[in-house]
Amino acid sequence: PRVTIVGAGRVGSTLAQRIAEKNLADVVLLDIIAGMPQGLALDLVEARGIELHNRQIIGTNNYADTSGSQIVVITAGIPRKTGMSRDDLLKTNAKIVVEAATNAIAHSPNAIFIVVTNPLDVMTYLAWQATGLPRTRIMGMAGVLDSARFETFIALELGVLPADVKAMVLGSHGDLMVPLSRYATVNGIPITELLDAATIARLVERTRNGGAEIVELMQTGGAFFAPASATSVMVESILLNQSRLLPVAAYLQGEYGLEDVVIGVPCRLGCGGIESVLELNLTDEEREALDTSAQSVRKNIERAHE
Ligand code: NAI
Repeated sequence: PRVTIVGAGRVGSTLAQRIAEKNLADVVLLDIIAGMPQGLALDLVEARGIELHNRQIIGTNNYADTSGSQIVVITAGIPRKTGMSRDDLLKTNAKIVVEAATNAIAHSPNAIFIVVTNPLDVMTYLAWQATGLPRTRIMGMAGVLDSARFETFIALELGVLPADVKAMVLGSHGDLMVPLSRYATVNGIPITELLDAATIARLVERTRNGGAEIVELMQTGGAFFAPASATSVMVESILLNQSRLLPVAAYLQGEYGLEDVVIGVPCRLGCGGIESVLELNLTDEEREALDTSAQSVRKNIERAHE
């Protein structure tokens, strides 16, 4: 199989490395900057003998080279700078994502699309509109990353192995995300049995600010290692038809009482893309938080169209 990554920046190039070194697929890295994706691809190819895989990695500035991809990941855009909100990125990235999606679908009409560019939920919606794809074949990455951050903070707090912590974060990617604390467990034991409410609230808050915390520290852009890992898990579940249940930004048609909006919900990911959306019974508080999240995404979809 072949995966195209549009945007060979920090997230895109790290994702290319993850996909090739996990031996999941051949990779085409596309960027507007001349020579840059070609150089990165050559660098990754030169590591193959050491990393012991034989995947093809191509760098290009031309969409014709992406043809026949099973998956297209869009990471093209500008990232957040210190003090910038994800919504500040709205107009610039909207143009870039629509252009990328339109060009990519023309050469890979059967591909499944994963959008990574922020503001995530809005960009996924715009890419869905631009491609005309059925909603099963287009989605956004955010929930897997936000959940991994929540799990990390729980693991750090309890001093347990991160892989033993399971949590799910729904809603939009940003301040209005909806971490489902009552479902978070350490090997099946609810964290509500292990931590007091104030501590859980503090970890939830840190999760909400997880992206900003890294932007503050780095000063020169945002996170990319964990975002690339999170995206590679989605790519893997699709390519290997694993049917993993992951929080994914999906176009909703009535689920959770929401319609014509993209937001993070639990989805089964397999070779057809989103195989199903799982509807959880939410508490009133969680449902309200999801509604607020959806309203803000809708508002930004409108702003993007202005
Ligand atoms: P970056 O600046 O390192 O890379 C972006 C790349 O896109 C650059 O190489 C740039 O040349 C390229 N690009 C710009 N316009 C293009 C176009 N029209 N066609 C093709 N390529 C184009 O940024 P980074 O750190 O890789 O982040 C990428 C995006 O992903 C940002 O919008 C960022 O906010 C978002 N992001 C989303 C996350 C999520 O959880 N959904 C997590 C981390 C980042």
